[in-house]
Amino acid sequence: MIKRQIIELVKEKNDIVEVVSEYVNLQKVGANYRGLCPFHLETSPSFYVSPAKNMYHCFGCGASGDVVKFVQEIENISYTEAVKKLAERAGVDIDIDEEDEKRRLYYSFYKLLHQEYLNSLRKSSNVIEYLYKRGFSEREISLYEFGYSPINSYFPQKVAKSLGISKEDLQAFGFLNTDPFSGRIIIPIKDDYGRIIAFGGRLVGEGVPKYINSQDTMIFKKSWILFLFDQAREYIKNVDYVVICEGYFDALAFHRAGIKNTVATLGTALTRAHILKLKKYTKNILLAFDNDAAGVKATLKSIEMILNEGFNVAIANFREGKDADEIYQKSGSKELIKALEESISPEIFVVERLSRKYDLSNPNGINTFLQSLSNWNRIFSYNPVSTDKFYEAIAKVIHVDKDKLMEMMKLSKEKVGKTRKDYSNQVKNSHAEDRKTKIATTEDYLIYIYYNYPEIFKTINFNPDILDGKAKEFFLIAKDLNVSLEQLSKDMAQFVKEAIERIDMDVDDKVLEYIKKDIEIRSLEKRIGEIDELIKKSKSEDEKKILLKARIELIKQKEKIKRSSL
Ligand code: UTP
Ligand code: MN
Repeated sequence: MIKRQIIELVKEKNDIVEVVSEYVNLQKVGANYRGLCPFHLETSPSFYVSPAKNMYHCFGCGASGDVVKFVQEIENISYTEAVKKLAERAGVDIDIDEEDEKRRLYYSFYKLLHQEYLNSLRKSSNVIEYLYKRGFSEREISLYEFGYSPINSYFPQKVAKSLGISKEDLQAFGFLNTDPFSGRIIIPIKDDYGRIIAFGGRLVGEGVPKYINSQDTMIFKKSWILFLFDQAREYIKNVDYVVICEGYFDALAFHRAGIKNTVATLGTALTRAHILKLKKYTKNILLAFDNDAAGVKATLKSIEMILNEGFNVAIANFREGKDADEIYQKSGSKELIKALEESISPEIFVVERLSRKYDLSNPNGINTFLQSLSNWNRIFSYNPVSTDKFYEAIAKVIHVDKDKLMEMMKLSKEKVGKTRKDYSNQVKNSHAEDRKTKIATTEDYLIYIYYNYPEIFKTINFNPDILDGKAKEFFLIAKDLNVSLEQLSKDMAQFVKEAIERIDMDVDDKVLEYIKKDIEIRSLEKRIGEIDELIKKSKSEDEKKILLKARIELIKQKEKIKRSSL
């Protein structure tokens, strides 16, 4: 336990606005600050920080608390650890050994177990031989703290016994009656402070599965941890960018080549949590995933997420090499540095890679290629320079000039540059006059999507009856057809134009989710209304009872959606 007074002092010395700002973009509104909540997905900011009360509160998901709670939640650490972290930040001294007992045991266990694996590696010449073959020197083998779990290893059980760890606790620490890493090279996985909290295990030589990693435990969360982050973070801050790769040995290759601002994901996709963790150190990400189909797919997915979080991204140019490790082994650090120096912008990467999937020598191929880019068109529309680069890249691969391309993509000029960035301006200016009348409704979005993203429109199921006013009329006619503006009455065309003009933020996953939920809620409300009518008309008590029961069910469903959509 940490003393009450110390906790108070730590809270006093850490300005909540400053701390939160390390993770969230805040804007001042009156006496408070506001931003997008880091604890749930949302499109309009409902997360508030009050410097006067020293509290944060999200009106969307209900998250709230003080500065310690914030750090605890966002870093996924214990209360004590959060206090310690903040104490360090503010230069307040607290006793190191006042740590939550079980966590302390966890760290001791992993440290001792790792020690056993280290000792066992020294006795296993064939394993050392394997590492030599992968180009590791003796010094590097001990520097990176590789270990080895021998066949039929009982090390976890032995260490647990020596520390008096119960069966239940051992399970919570990630082990049962056997050693899952048996027969594998051990790669220690550390938390952000350099404590070992999990292991990766690679087979010595070929076989499947090539790697296994610790399962998530009470402390180890794969989607939060980046391999080598504890060592890389100072470098990341200094050079103001981070290299992210997929594999242990790829990250190690970069470190060996002197590029120590490198981390790796742990056999899972890059997550939003990973990216949020990096926010404090840099906003520039260089992706160095494998140069194969799976790697490219992961790269494309990651680019979208990274841009969504407001980071810059570039992609390492590996040319013929399979992955960083292979390049380092074959050609040394020079080639690896070159791959970074010649990194590719996301606009060009996307166009280049997607274009390979289509036959661009015929108009049909070009058409489907352009269609496949519509989602990316939206993603890159966040800034005009990016949009420009994107079009330039497309024009180049299909050999037309940019004007022709604009025509081909049927881009209405007004839409280009209506962006997420504009949206944040809108939020900033939300006190400006006559905003109220201009806020886009679900009806407006449906019309906008109908004309701009027909593919997405097909994925939205709704009955026009749930819509208000003219939109209902419009969709009753137009829903399953392809109605152009010219085909509409003057009146209706004007209505459609105005609806589209109200859209300030382009459609993305969050907006789409919001619209779909709104439609679900409205459909439920409609059904509830219908049931009310039936109840009114019904003459049988039994029938009424059944109807009432159905009504309650629907209301429950509605409340559930409402809660989740905040
Ligand atoms: P790769 O299959 O690209 O392996 O997996 P690699 O990094 O090139 O491995 P080496 O060079 O042959 O040793 C990339 C990453 O995916 C995870 C691991 O984290 C690995 O580093 N992975 C891979 C697994 O978790 N399980 C597997 O069976 C394979
Ligand atoms: Mn490899």
